[in-house]
Amino acid sequence: KELNGEVLPPNFLFEVSVVIDVLRATSTIVTALNNGAKEIIPFEEIKEALEFKNKINERNLLLCGERGGIKPEGFELGNSPLEFTSEIVKDKSLILTTTNGTRAFLKAFKISNKVYIASFLNVSSTVEILSKYNNIAIVCAGNNGSVSYEDTQLAGFIIEKLLSKKDYSLSDSAKIAYNLWKSLKKPDFTGEHAKKLIELGFQKDVDYCQNIDKISIVCEGIRQPQNLLKVK
Ligand code: MLT
Repeated sequence: KELNGEVLPPNFLFEVSVVIDVLRATSTIVTALNNGAKEIIPFEEIKEALEFKNKINERNLLLCGERGGIKPEGFELGNSPLEFTSEIVKDKSLILTTTNGTRAFLKAFKISNKVYIASFLNVSSTVEILSKYNNIAIVCAGNNGSVSYEDTQLAGFIIEKLLSKKDYSLSDSAKIAYNLWKSLKKPDFTGEHAKKLIELGFQKDVDYCQNIDKISIVCEGIRQPQNLLKVK
């Protein structure tokens, strides 16, 4: 495809993707980078994350993530954004593996050259960057292959904000997200994953992740030397 006179590599279907996993991976990533983490290094599997940590064996590397919402054995941090304080993460590289969020991020690199990370926490700053593009994929991490109510809300909010800047034609899934957000007009964290997190004792995470524009950084995926996440 050719867009704005630029020929895109044939395997890239979109100019840019934005990855959403409101509960909780992208809210955690945005919080960690805002609190001074140097970078996030995502892995799909726990085994790969552990191998990387053991191979590098560096003091400034923290092993973080969850399975089923819980910190795996041997990990230093879980996936609660509230754990990622500046005291703990400043200047650290974070190895992160989560059930859906880090996987969605790695997949986004297969459909576009540029990847950003969004949460309600940094929605406006992210939309500011996204609005420079015409052909945008909104990648919702969802829940083990199913739709996530909270991710779809943020997708709708992003679309509403993009449409206030210029015209876009919307896919059917984008229309569903947009119309959901127009009917809600504010975060409604009552979906299945929110309920599960509350049962696990993470009510404070669920409350925190609903904050709109608490943070103004933009988080960008960097393809080299590994697929990293950094503050732009
Ligand atoms: C995920 O990546 O699936 C989530 O962030 C799970 C969680 O809430 O920790």
